[in-house]
Amino acid sequence: MHRDPTAAAAAVKLKIALVSPHPASLEVLKAMLEEWGGVPEISLHAGGVELAARAVAEAAPDVLLVETARHDLAELAALELVTVRHPGLAAILASPNHSADFLRQAMRIGVREVLPLPVQREALFDALGRVRQRAAPVPARRRARILSFVGCKGGSGATFIATNVAHLLAEQEGKKVALIDLNFQFGDAALYVTHRVPARTLADVADEAHRLDASLLANSMLQVLPNFHILPAPEDPEQALRVRPDSIDPLLEVAGAAYDVVIVDAGRSLDDVTVRAMDRSDTVYAVLQLNLPFLRDAKRLLRVLTSLGYGRDKVQLVVNRFHKRSTITLEDLQETLQHEVFRTLPNSFDAVTASVNQGVPIFKLASRDPVSRGLREIAGTLVEAKKEAGGWRRLLSR
Ligand SMILES: Nc1ncnc2c1ncn2[C@@H]1O[C@H](COP(=O)(O)OP(=O)(O)OP(=O)(O)O)[C@@H](O)[C@H]1O
Ligand SMILES: [Mg+2]
Repeated sequence: MHRDPTAAAAAVKLKIALVSPHPASLEVLKAMLEEWGGVPEISLHAGGVELAARAVAEAAPDVLLVETARHDLAELAALELVTVRHPGLAAILASPNHSADFLRQAMRIGVREVLPLPVQREALFDALGRVRQRAAPVPARRRARILSFVGCKGGSGATFIATNVAHLLAEQEGKKVALIDLNFQFGDAALYVTHRVPARTLADVADEAHRLDASLLANSMLQVLPNFHILPAPEDPEQALRVRPDSIDPLLEVAGAAYDVVIVDAGRSLDDVTVRAMDRSDTVYAVLQLNLPFLRDAKRLLRVLTSLGYGRDKVQLVVNRFHKRSTITLEDLQETLQHEVFRTLPNSFDAVTASVNQGVPIFKLASRDPVSRGLREIAGTLVEAKKEAGGWRRLLSR
């Protein structure tokens, strides 16, 4: 068995059956699949969804890709006859209908992905990559480290640090990383590292919490890198109401089994949802800056975290925008909070602003900037956890 799941996935070959009412689409899709590789057999079936049953019976494919003709629920009912009979089959739909009703029903009948029409190469390749990942032999079940980042008050830099560290862990350290955005008022984590637009948010996942599994979760996440996925925050307060604390447990359980590291952006407010996520976290990183308002709020936050029963090892302080000539020193801070500082990150206005404004990780824009170096150190510490003291010791060592 392959030990590296990514290599194992790359070795998986998929047989694909294509069904479309338009012969020209079949040819276009076939050309894309040939470009993708990893598809030893492609069978083409010109016609409506009614053809799908015969296509599957004849070609015995791993993947069935159906372009809808009427784009309605009746078409899904016809497809259900196939998905029910072939539970191992990965069914992918290409349809212009992305209404909530249609998508929910598609998921319910076992469709793995619904791609917009006309099918774009990148979307198709991403979808097939996920199918291939699922088909790969699964290594022994493991549990990810769950790391929460919370701002001691607004604008601390918690999201900037969480997203950039997550990206580094994926790209530099080769970890499979999920970032969950629990900032319901100002949720914007995805924008810090990608231009991709999310199709689903945490609210959609919360609706399905009772039947959540790894593939449903993967389908709901925004793919930043093949091994770095973000679950965006709900888009508005009304959507946010759909996320109950009870949906957090299954979410973290499923994410914990499917990823190496789960990073939670807990925003700046403690509520029943963020507390549930922090309860389940191995470490909570409280981000602050060296000035009086931050110090006051940090003190309050630490008091609350202590009253929640979190030990000293579980809570780690990260001082952002640190400069040595600050009137409040690190010693003052540690004395006031009675808590050691875990890491500092320097202030670097231009480079950080450019990164945040462009939605590109800072180390891609300014690799030698002191902030990039500091973030790389933090990410590196996470994987060299055994050498570290305190809350980092056991990180990722399982
Ligand atoms: N090390 C840094 N140097 C300079 N500017 C920084 C640094 N870290 C963050 N910033 C700036 O601070 C701003 C706030 O950062 P960020 O959005 O990450 O904070 P936050 O704690 O997540 O805020 P919110 O409470 O709104 O969620 C960003 O626009 C970014 O430009
Ligand atoms: Mg934020």
